[in-house]
Amino acid sequence: MRIGTIALAASALLLATTAASAGSQAGAAGPDLSGVVRGRQAGMRMSGAIIGGIKGAIDRGDDVKTQAFAARSLAGWASALPGMFPEGSNVAPTEAMGAIWTDWAGFKAKSDAYVAATAKLVAATQSGDKTAFAAAFGEVRSACGACHDAYKQP
Ligand code: HEC
Repeated sequence: MRIGTIALAASALLLATTAASAGSQAGAAGPDLSGVVRGRQAGMRMSGAIIGGIKGAIDRGDDVKTQAFAARSLAGWASALPGMFPEGSNVAPTEAMGAIWTDWAGFKAKSDAYVAATAKLVAATQSGDKTAFAAAFGEVRSACGACHDAYKQP
């Protein structure tokens, strides 16, 4: 009985030690950010789907006010974008380039241009101005391409 108790205490101690060293190992390597990578990749693909929807609306000559939700979604994503690239998230399965983290100011500038373009898109859905909407859409697409050229693996 007494030996059993000691053995139990010893194995509990062993478990605690193992858990502690596993914890400190995770601490040294940082948290697993592959989920963040997959989340931002999914967000990017969804933004691509939104772009396709908006293009269809422009081609059909739709009232641009119908695109208010799409434009606001894109603007929200644009402003959240820098936060989707935390330090340590240059891990598989990412296609991001390391330059994002060595040249954060440059990456932030591309992201700011995207924010500004999507803000114009939102404004045009409010005014109903089709010409302004089409121009802002062109700017948004350039902002996608400009950032990919510099910071996404081809
Ligand atoms: C400020 C920079 C930036 C802007 C602006 C930007 N992207 Fe991206 N995009 C990236 C980076 C970096 C990746 C790679 C992310 C990764 O793999 O971790 C990416 C990846 C993608 C992917 C591939 C996702 C996958 O399947 O792995 C698509 C699609 C995409 N972007 C579409 C867009 C579209 C559409 C826009 C504009 C409406 C846009 N992006 C604007 C930086 C940007």
